[in-house]
Amino acid sequence: MANQILLTGGTGFIGSHTAVELMSQGYEVIIVDDLSNSELKTLKSIERITGKKPKFYQADIRQYELINAIFKENKITGIIHFAAKKAVGESVEQPVMYYDININSMINLLKLMAAYQVQPIVFSSSCTVYGQPSILPVTEATPFLPAESPYGNTKQIGETILRDSTAANKNINAISLRYFNPVGAHESGLIGELPIGVPANLIPFITQTAAGLRQELKIFGGDYNTPDGTAIRDYIHVVDLAKAHVVAIDRMLNAKQAKRYEFFNIGTGKGSSVLEVIQSFEKMTKVKVPYRIVDRRPGDIVEIYADTSLANQVLDWKSLLNLDEMMRSAWQWQLNLGK
Ligand code: NAD
Ligand code: WQD
Repeated sequence: MANQILLTGGTGFIGSHTAVELMSQGYEVIIVDDLSNSELKTLKSIERITGKKPKFYQADIRQYELINAIFKENKITGIIHFAAKKAVGESVEQPVMYYDININSMINLLKLMAAYQVQPIVFSSSCTVYGQPSILPVTEATPFLPAESPYGNTKQIGETILRDSTAANKNINAISLRYFNPVGAHESGLIGELPIGVPANLIPFITQTAAGLRQELKIFGGDYNTPDGTAIRDYIHVVDLAKAHVVAIDRMLNAKQAKRYEFFNIGTGKGSSVLEVIQSFEKMTKVKVPYRIVDRRPGDIVEIYADTSLANQVLDWKSLLNLDEMMRSAWQWQLNLGK
């Protein structure tokens, strides 16, 4: 029987792309999502891409009894845990909600893994655990800095819970993937990021501005100590990121793990400035992005990009798609959203 992988938050941006990649590798996918930040129609899009419909439950991972019933009903062999709130600014305003959702969902899953003898879990961590590292590119050996936001803290706590749980329970294995900046969309144009309200992240703001939905892009800071004065990030194509989940779950299911808790940077290893991102977008789409340089955004780090050699070697995973492809696919998705 095919392995059944539970994807919490599986109708979301990264979850939906991962569902597609898992299904194309022969995995069966069970999605549990409360649809608080995604739409039911994503299931149809996944079906159009893969030819198969993933099993779906609308439920909040914090509701233990509901999730327990899902474990009872299915033979789940692995978990990929995406479900979380992810807006940094909102987490500063509503910390209790962030700790409640992001931490309690993890705790429920760990209880259920023990109860149903489900061994592997992949966790969506983030480069935010590093803060502003003093040495670049940042490796996994870099210690966490005090989190800048409750959101960032939930990722540090999530990783700590997994480290402690795998140390205490030999039947549980975990891999945290520390995503850098996931962008772009599936080549079909059928799935992508669904920003609700005014986007806080750069790429949806660019595509919405280019589409005429926003007047101009504000570039937060033009006086950083970087070659063109704008801040630098490691943007990673969401399809490359999705594939990293497939190799991570595969590694645990096939007992190839060296340690029962592992963590990997998932980026491209290349830093791009805000201006370079805009240039790539304009080159690929032939659409101008009106912008204005304004003050720095409080809390923003100047520069970060990943050392990905650990994931390259240990997971045998490598990003393949470049910034141009990220911009092309993000634009394709934006155009389809308007239809
Ligand atoms: P997303 O909001 O598109 O997806 C998250 C999904 O989880 C949504 O479909 C939402 O409806 C669902 N969800 C939220 N709370 C839930 C709950 N209590 N029960 C059930 N479902 C719930 O976000 P994404 O960009 O796909 O992010 C996925 C994961 O990756 C998150 O854990 C996020 O923190 C992490 N991450 C994201 C980024 C990024 O920039 N997108 C970067 C690093 C890490
Ligand atoms: C990228 C760059 C901005 C919007 C956030 C979270 C982080 C992670 C990824 C989950 C920065 C600049 C942006 C705009 C701009 N998420 N920018 N004008 O800040 O790297 O990270 O998302 O874990 O935790 O903090 O991503 O897309 O917001 O910004 O100039 O309107 O674009 O200043 O330099 P960021 P971002």
